[in-house]
Amino acid sequence: MAVVAWDDAMGVGSSVLDSDHRILIDLLNQLHDATETGQSREVVGSVLGVLAEYVEHHFRREEVMMAAVGVPDIEAHRRQHHALEARVAALRDRYQAGERGALDEDVVMLLKRWLTEHIMVLDKSYRPWMEKAGPQAGTGKRGTIAVP
Ligand SMILES: [Fe+2]
Repeated sequence: MAVVAWDDAMGVGSSVLDSDHRILIDLLNQLHDATETGQSREVVGSVLGVLAEYVEHHFRREEVMMAAVGVPDIEAHRRQHHALEARVAALRDRYQAGERGALDEDVVMLLKRWLTEHIMVLDKSYRPWMEKAGPQAGTGKRGTIAVP
């Protein structure tokens, strides 16, 4: 199955958040490669662990930045973050606890779909606010929004 690639259409108006999204996509592709090439439990488990941690880190950063640039009604977005990160964390826990079937190719494809849909729909909806805050939004430069 094709690897997901970041492209300009996924841009959300913040270089910091775009870079986070690239990292998440890269981790998903690594996870996909690791399962597809039959890597050991340790390798797959550790990629999954890093992905779960980065998802959480990124979502908190994105939430702080959305609030800082004045995006309205961020509760629904926050709820989707919590649901997504809970699913990834549960998957990591089940896999690391030894449930081999917890992570098959379908699950990895599902993760890719959730994440790319989330970026393309919900994340892109805050783009006008990020753009209004300027290209330096989130970079901590020019006294704009500091990177959480
Ligand atoms: Fe988001």
